[in-house]
Amino acid sequence: MRGEVAISGSKNSALPLLFASLLTGERCRFRNVPELADIRTAIRLLQDLGVKVGALDGHGVELVADALTGHEAPYELVKTMRASFLSLGPLLSREGRARVSTPGGCAIGARPVNLHLNGLEKMGAKLEIVHGYVEAEAPARRNGRRLRGARLALDTPSVGATENLMMAATLADGVTEIENAAREPEIEDLANALGKMGARIEGAGTSVIRVEGVEELRGVDHEVIADRIEAGTFAVAAAITRGDCRLRGARAAHLDAFLLKLEEAGVQLDAEPAGIRVRGPERPRSVTVKTAPFPGFATDLQAQMMALMSIAEGSAVITETIFENRFMHALELVRLGADIAIEGNNAVVRGVERLSGAPVMATDLRASVSLVLAGLAADNSTEIGRVYHLDRGYERIEEKLCGLGADIRRARAPRA
Ligand code: EPU
Repeated sequence: MRGEVAISGSKNSALPLLFASLLTGERCRFRNVPELADIRTAIRLLQDLGVKVGALDGHGVELVADALTGHEAPYELVKTMRASFLSLGPLLSREGRARVSTPGGCAIGARPVNLHLNGLEKMGAKLEIVHGYVEAEAPARRNGRRLRGARLALDTPSVGATENLMMAATLADGVTEIENAAREPEIEDLANALGKMGARIEGAGTSVIRVEGVEELRGVDHEVIADRIEAGTFAVAAAITRGDCRLRGARAAHLDAFLLKLEEAGVQLDAEPAGIRVRGPERPRSVTVKTAPFPGFATDLQAQMMALMSIAEGSAVITETIFENRFMHALELVRLGADIAIEGNNAVVRGVERLSGAPVMATDLRASVSLVLAGLAADNSTEIGRVYHLDRGYERIEEKLCGLGADIRRARAPRA
């Protein structure tokens, strides 16, 4: 793989940002929003709620939530995309009530939402789970139904709970402090946009976030950060094919732990003004990887790293600590000739010299992309089923990879 690829805007930044538009009646403009199935799902939900949504040139979205017509996120949309649950905090905070479906199980782990709910309850919300929906109401205050600020401590630094609670706190009465908050770059991006909307937020990007509630928020014009997971995925594409690729727009600071592991594996990395240059070694070396909340090694890059380790010299141990069932790709990689043994949350990957193409099946977004990466390195052709998973989070992936020299054909048109 050779050449340059432009990294798209971050899916996991854009999703909470779109839901943040529920917090104001003024116009919100977001730029660098990736064109993805998950973004379309979020927009559908917002439109259902009465938000007027328009497309700007290129990758821009304009949203005006000046006359909400509903306060419900239906099961149909939450089960399609769990991030729809991020409508709860903003709706409850702005409207004083919300009815949002609980997400149910997930292919990569249980993924409960207890931390979101506990936090909102501490902020005075009355919550009930009825017919699979969280029915929430903010307490009546002198200025209408409003949440009140509270001291919250998360048991685990959940990205979604931090985002939901931070958004809810912006319009609450008083000060909210979120301890053990997630520190992902997407949290900082959300806090930056909320700050431009008039929210008073300190500490985003650290473990303690302090939000002083304000009466109302205004509109915003904000550019979404580059997708660090897409960048990491393309870095592996270069590394696994002995390639030389430039990832335009990628930010090394958002990929620290991952890049250190790539270097340890023998991949040559150069931070350049416009992005990162990645040069793959003749054969990568095995490295030990353990996923952790940011700034640790991202769970969203674990499957891709496993694909790389499957052709590395030596044995690699990959430990997944965030999700309990995120090794579904391992057995599919074995179909391609990889030697992987799973023991609990550890995968022992004994590097093989070559992978060999075969038909495989995608199970979730990052698992599917790891199969694409392995397919790039494998002999003959690899056929991947259920690629709709890919379209949830990778923009025009086959086009971008083909631009770098891959030979990928989509056998069937993507789902609308
Ligand atoms: N957790 C709880 N209770 C909660 C919330 C989370 O126990 O109330 C647990 C989860 O079960 C999990 C851990 O906390 O074991 C971390 O989950 P987190 O809430 O941080 O994940 P999330 O917000 O649901 C986001 C990304 C995921 C990414 C994780 C971890 C979005 C839209 N999704 O999910 O992205 O894997 O953070 O970094 O931002 C992906 O893009 O492929 C993807 C799955």
